[in-house]
Amino acid sequence: MMEVRNGQAQAFVEAQDLMKRVRAAGHGHVFNFWDKLSKDSQRQLLHQLSLIDFGLMERLYREYIVHKKKPDISALEPAEIIALTHQRAHPDETAKMIARGEEMLRAGKIAAVLVAGGQASRLGFDKPKGEYPIGPVSKKSLFQLHAEKLIATARRYRTRIPWYIMTSDANAGETRAFFEQNNLFGYPPSDIFFFEQEMMPALDENGKLILDAPDHIFMNPNGHGGTLTALEKSGALADMRRRGIEEIFYFQVDNVLLKICDPLFIGYHVTANAEMSAKVCAKRDPYEKVGVIGRVVDPASGKAGKLMVIEYSDMSKADKEERNPDGTLKYNAGSIAIHLFNVDFIAREVNGGTKLPWHVAHKQIPCLDTNGKLIQPDQPNGYKFETFIFDALSDAQRVAVLEVERRFEFSPVKNAAGEDSPPTAQHDLCELHAHWLEQAGVKIPRDAAGRLSARLEISPLFALDEPELAEKISPDLQVRDGLYLES
Ligand code: UD1
Repeated sequence: MMEVRNGQAQAFVEAQDLMKRVRAAGHGHVFNFWDKLSKDSQRQLLHQLSLIDFGLMERLYREYIVHKKKPDISALEPAEIIALTHQRAHPDETAKMIARGEEMLRAGKIAAVLVAGGQASRLGFDKPKGEYPIGPVSKKSLFQLHAEKLIATARRYRTRIPWYIMTSDANAGETRAFFEQNNLFGYPPSDIFFFEQEMMPALDENGKLILDAPDHIFMNPNGHGGTLTALEKSGALADMRRRGIEEIFYFQVDNVLLKICDPLFIGYHVTANAEMSAKVCAKRDPYEKVGVIGRVVDPASGKAGKLMVIEYSDMSKADKEERNPDGTLKYNAGSIAIHLFNVDFIAREVNGGTKLPWHVAHKQIPCLDTNGKLIQPDQPNGYKFETFIFDALSDAQRVAVLEVERRFEFSPVKNAAGEDSPPTAQHDLCELHAHWLEQAGVKIPRDAAGRLSARLEISPLFALDEPELAEKISPDLQVRDGLYLES
């Protein structure tokens, strides 16, 4: 009995101490509804507050909101890339790189990391984006598509590919439940690992925390830069070391054409002894919403400095539109958010906390009025903070940047309609599979303009690529609308 009372007294002192610190940091308004809260709600609010680094929030307010700190990208240089023209001119090198990548896969040295902690707000889908039924014929989800590619890759190389999936507070429970309802899509349970990124509080115009319920502070996932610390804190990095993993294949949930654990990419990365690598493709147009890999010129020395991804929102119109004498865009290396990371590099990056810079976005954030009623503002009223994984490029000693062909590797699901939407992604997937079939000698129904006139789909478990498909089918295969090749 005495111990219980001591425990309660201790908790009371700690709560008082925390409340004092919160008030001293200028956020006393979060207790405006305190007296009306149940004991559980009070505990929940205190728990959230105990996780906040108030020193960091104060610094972010000063630097990014008051002083409007931005990355200094006033002068840029294009990045050196392993261009498609180079790859085509050196088929022997390409073959060597593929062989090297395949060796790494066979030796079980590659892990896959999927980032799926975002909120899919542009898509207007009220579930985790990975649940979107994207299969043009099968209607399989993005998660299932990725899972099947990984299973087929592991099978091909007679290996295991541990798969680490990052979610956030916003979608962790639902994502896991979806995988469980679907028996992990056949993935070996001992090779799948879910981990959560951390959440970050937003600040209002005056640098104050924002309540979105009387007992809750508005927070957003801390950006995919949070992957690095989350890998470490969750034990995933230690698990990788235990398994002898040396390199991590990193990908986003939204790209239907993704070549998972691509041996060519792995080959270039390990041959260059790179710490981090990236895939790029030529931009569709100057305004495409992709980041661009470039080198930022150091204003003091005038020399091109480290590599970085310049986000589309941070690039000037003039830089976006600048062209080379041959008419191509000067900054054309569009980042398709596919990376390889060396495990030791990640360990170095997270040692002593994240080193990644913060990015701030002015947003409409749900908040409470003075009576505690929830309001959805129609104007931006606060700031969200995130870190971006690609900023780690500037910390890497060696980097390989590989150019790939868009029609074979990149078609993301971002918007509900128009560019980069489910219809364009489904179309691109059908076109890719139609191309494989055509290469195998199969006649594909097309209209006079060359447009596909049938929906078709090939399961990764049937064929992962063109050569595998060619081995399995005959050129007289009849293609009708709704063809689905599965094993
Ligand atoms: C992103 C890249 C852009 C790149 C493009 C390629 C950023 C800021 N920009 O744009 O440079 O050219 O993809 O498609 O990323 N995620 C998390 N946790 C978070 C935030 C995001 O896991 O806190 C995940 C999402 O679930 C998604 C991915 O990161 O899988 C990308 O996020 P998204 O916001 O869709 O980035 P884009 O603006 O599309």
